[in-house]
Amino acid sequence: KVLILDFGSQYTQLIARRVRELNIYSEIHPFNKIPNNLEDYKAVILSGSPMSVRSEDAYHPDLSDIRGKKPMLAVCYGAQYLAHFSGGEVAESNTREYGRANLSYVEENETFLEGIHIGSQVWMSHSDTIKILPENGVLLASTNDVQNAAYKIENETTYAIQFHPEVYHSTDGKLLLENFLVKIAKVNPDWTPNAFIEETVEDLKTKLGNDKVVLGLSGGVDSSVAAMLLHKAIGKNLYCIFVNNGLLRKNEFSDVLEQYKGMGLNVKGVDASARFLDALKDESDPEKKRKAIGRVFIEVFDDEAHLIEDVKWLAQGTIYPDVIESVSATGGPSATIKSHHNVGGLPDFMKLKVVEPLKELFKDEVRRVGASMGMDKNLLGRHPFPGPGLAIRILGDVTAEKVRILQEVDAIFINGLKQAGLYDKVWQAGAMLLPVNSVGVMGDERTYEKCVALRAVESTDGMTADWVNLPYEFLQKTSNDIINKVKGVNRVVYDISSKPPATIEWE
Ligand code: XMP
Repeated sequence: KVLILDFGSQYTQLIARRVRELNIYSEIHPFNKIPNNLEDYKAVILSGSPMSVRSEDAYHPDLSDIRGKKPMLAVCYGAQYLAHFSGGEVAESNTREYGRANLSYVEENETFLEGIHIGSQVWMSHSDTIKILPENGVLLASTNDVQNAAYKIENETTYAIQFHPEVYHSTDGKLLLENFLVKIAKVNPDWTPNAFIEETVEDLKTKLGNDKVVLGLSGGVDSSVAAMLLHKAIGKNLYCIFVNNGLLRKNEFSDVLEQYKGMGLNVKGVDASARFLDALKDESDPEKKRKAIGRVFIEVFDDEAHLIEDVKWLAQGTIYPDVIESVSATGGPSATIKSHHNVGGLPDFMKLKVVEPLKELFKDEVRRVGASMGMDKNLLGRHPFPGPGLAIRILGDVTAEKVRILQEVDAIFINGLKQAGLYDKVWQAGAMLLPVNSVGVMGDERTYEKCVALRAVESTDGMTADWVNLPYEFLQKTSNDIINKVKGVNRVVYDISSKPPATIEWE
């Protein structure tokens, strides 16, 4: 496996993704928590950073156990850090070096650059520049503005690049990573979904033995794939609980429950809609709504878990971005942009050991693993849906009637997307019920009814998102259908805000 030391760049997760796309397993650790078992890692990559190496509080970890001892690739800040501390010089650059650039010089006969030619587009994002290479540094590539765009250290397997190989705009970035990892560091690209499944099922068998495990299914991709892996490992000792909080999509509870049963899962559906609605009564503050739902969920889940005699473990569908976000929230270097929803929700009184079979995977990898286990495409391709469900899409207080209206609207929108072949092109879609009434006219009658906003975004991880340019004809038909079929709604608008500065949900 490969170690990625994170200096807080917004692109660090992308490095891990690219490496895994090469079928090589990689792990991100904060720069100040270098793992003790370095011998288990075949290569090390240093990430970029928002810091300047010249600033006093910049991150300057001791790399003496790594440099020269293991193949190392230093990216952006990493490249500057390496230069700064080994006799080179880093200075503020005169021109801003952001965005596209093209290589104007490429060293020939260099394994690291095999297949990469003059003109290759690279993505720069830095305000410092390497003026003088470190001791024994050998220049490998330049752009017009950046002389020292890539270098290596002679007689070591130490490489450094000023640009970001991990972003798609660096067109040969993946090839560079492959050259470094496969040709130089000699890492075997043998990490595939099937290898992962085999290994994980074996590990789970050993870890869990004959213990009972309880897992909360949500209908989403992560918890479903986690359940299938556990099911493969321990069969009937996996007890799944699927709670209906009354805030799911139309018919979702019964449909998904049937689907789970069809997959052979030992699943109990618990309809607690009334309890949730009761807890939400007259509450219109978004965070208080979230908290109320979280609290009732834990109560319901705990009641159910207590019915399973001798249960020892709680399984969760935590995935890698969740883990990284909570690491950064607790002292890692990257800025926390959004507090995370699924980690840390375990109440003390449940006292169960936690097992998280997906915690090393990204979302697309989870989908690949699910597909390799033969899971249904429709289940794996489902849009993300927030834990608090429609409650945070009903702005203001939640009532049973509002839930009903929004379920109808949402169903028309989502089914429409499916019928138009647009569903898979959208990362997430849904409808918001706004707390405004507006005047309309139907027949000869004046109406004064609700307004709904439709939202469809493209994204890769939910951290940033842009609204989708849905065809006008589609919007037109959807709007007509909604206003004609859903009683209580007389106006439909489409949300054209990106994240940032807006968010995906309205609450
Ligand atoms: P925002 O609105 O922050 O949403 O741009 C980003 C992603 O997170 C989902 N989301 C939530 N998921 N509990 C969840 O489980 C929540 O409270 C919550 N709030 C937002 C949202 O649907 C989107 O996918």
